[in-house]
Amino acid sequence: MIPKALIDRYQRHLSYLRISITDRCNLRCIYCMPREMIPKLEHVDVLRYEEILRVAGVGAALGITKLRVTGGEPLVRRDVCDLLAQLNRLPGIREVSLTTNGVLLAERLDDILAAGVRRINISLDSLKPDRFAAITRVDCFHKVWDGIMMALDRDMAPVKINVVALRGINDDELTDLAALSLRYPVHVRFIEQMPIGEAAMRPVRPLLTPEIKTLLAPMGRLEPVPASTRDGPAERYRIPGAPGEIGFISAISHHFCDRCNRLRLTASGGLRPCLLSDHEEDLRTPLRHGASDEDLAEVFLSAVRHKPARHHLAEPLHEDVASAMSGIGG
Ligand code: 5AD
Ligand code: SF4
Repeated sequence: MIPKALIDRYQRHLSYLRISITDRCNLRCIYCMPREMIPKLEHVDVLRYEEILRVAGVGAALGITKLRVTGGEPLVRRDVCDLLAQLNRLPGIREVSLTTNGVLLAERLDDILAAGVRRINISLDSLKPDRFAAITRVDCFHKVWDGIMMALDRDMAPVKINVVALRGINDDELTDLAALSLRYPVHVRFIEQMPIGEAAMRPVRPLLTPEIKTLLAPMGRLEPVPASTRDGPAERYRIPGAPGEIGFISAISHHFCDRCNRLRLTASGGLRPCLLSDHEEDLRTPLRHGASDEDLAEVFLSAVRHKPARHHLAEPLHEDVASAMSGIGG
């Protein structure tokens, strides 16, 4: 008997599936990939769109209501907007959103909107074109900026802007990034750098939220925004009178695992109960060997049983996460 809801051992209701559709990317962010990174996955190892749709459909039957498509960079995969539109039509799915680096956003925005996507998260770690190029190793700040402005023009507000706080790299412009919320209806969210993928290879002392808040002190008083049930892990604030917001995603310093409602589908068809652990259940093999929907539902249930209570990154002897963010999708 297949249950109608995915509830784990700690009574968390899992209703949110993040889907990485590719490990490829048109950027090479220093904390994510080595400069010469060649995508690890062969074409045949990546789930086809019909396979992704089947997994999402089984998830929806089990109570998943929200999907987010990520990568790598999802907009580099061909015909991604067809997939977005079809995901949006799955019974039970109330929202399909997109996380992108923004490089191809201006080009694809019409199709993204036509596919019914209204919520978008864009990564932007610097407002200085040269520094943006140094962080991402590609000189394309203006393309991303144009994409953000176009999304705002097309009524996609609030656009979420993800800033990974990088010690010694962008810590001197966090106030400028926060100030975007004074001019535009954007949610600027400061993310602690997590020891995943490339960031785990080159250990740095991460810039944690309390320190980020201190750096933002010149902005004046931040007014807390009451959390809504739709909220993800961001702790939300507003500069009084601003059209936008500032948020903090404190994966390390203040883990939000007790409220985590997510599962993740990797580009190669692994179902992961936690971003910060390498545990994964294989969906690709059963998908390609005639598994029934019930069989696939069993894999979901097994992933849910393995969802850990919390991660241990803040502890001195934790194990690093070996997988690259580009295949599991942030
Ligand atoms: N720590 C924190 N955030 C990361 N991202 C990629 N790698 C890391 C990391 N090691 C971010 C990207 C993007 C989101 C999907 O994940 O910048 O905003
Ligand atoms: Fe690409 Fe995102 Fe990784 Fe940057 S962080 S290289 S944009 S997948």
